[in-house]
Amino acid sequence: MKTALSRHSQALLQNNLPYFSEKTMNKPVYVRKIFSAIARRYDFLNALLSLRRDRAWRKFTARMSEVTQRSRVLDVCTGTGELALAYADAIGNNSSVIGTDFCFDMLAVGKQKVEKQQRTHAFIGIEADTLCLPFTDNIFDVVSVGFGIRNVADIELGIREMMRVAVKGGRVVILEFTQPTAPVFRHIYYFYFKTLLPCIGNLISKNEDDAYGYLPNSVMQFPDCEQLKALMEKCGLADVRFYRKTLGIVAIHIGRKK
Ligand SMILES: C[S@@+](CC[C@H](N)C(=O)[O-])C[C@H]1O[C@@H](n2cnc3c(N)ncnc32)[C@H](O)[C@@H]1O
Repeated sequence: MKTALSRHSQALLQNNLPYFSEKTMNKPVYVRKIFSAIARRYDFLNALLSLRRDRAWRKFTARMSEVTQRSRVLDVCTGTGELALAYADAIGNNSSVIGTDFCFDMLAVGKQKVEKQQRTHAFIGIEADTLCLPFTDNIFDVVSVGFGIRNVADIELGIREMMRVAVKGGRVVILEFTQPTAPVFRHIYYFYFKTLLPCIGNLISKNEDDAYGYLPNSVMQFPDCEQLKALMEKCGLADVRFYRKTLGIVAIHIGRKK
């Protein structure tokens, strides 16, 4: 059983090579497989591995999206619905938040969680691929994604699809891990992120497909804050701004549909 970072992952990390190759496995198939396998432990591990910062990041994201009681929100790659629930809490009574994800098991865990907690502010989960959303154009005031766009096979197409379903003047919001800039902290953090986190994550989730080795690999290959801002602008979003949180290990990008 592979509990620590696999040799494959170590080699890729050291050489900064892509995690996937056409010859190995198709990215959506791998991504759905690992999230299906870790679904039950996902929320617990998020809290543990982020030292409970994850809730605050999502709460901040919802707050910066400037939702009102009338806002219609779509959270894509919603997983167990943690960001969707942050929006539901920010909106309050009668919130209309929809969460989509292509991994049924993640949505199922989210549904059970909402039922168990008897939450008044919840979300509706729908199984759907972010690259092909089952909605007509121009209907949501906010279209968000938390720790998800990095996993989508084509990031630019994912952002464009999110934009398509946003109303004119609506916000596209991306909460994602990024690479800290402070040199000393960066070294310490990378030791944790690339070495300790995969060992702990794979061990606790009992994952044999190196789900928590995939995490640092995918973050290292993801655009940095300025590059993501440029990509959002290339897609046609206006007034793109970003906020770094927790010494720059995550960032929230917000753009407006023209
Ligand atoms: C790291 S989880 C993030 C879950 C949640 N947004 C959060 O903040 O914790 C990434 C999720 O993205 C989903 N995902 C990845 N690619 C997707 C795609 N193309 N379409 C729909 N869901 C996708 C995975 O199934 C997984 O549930």
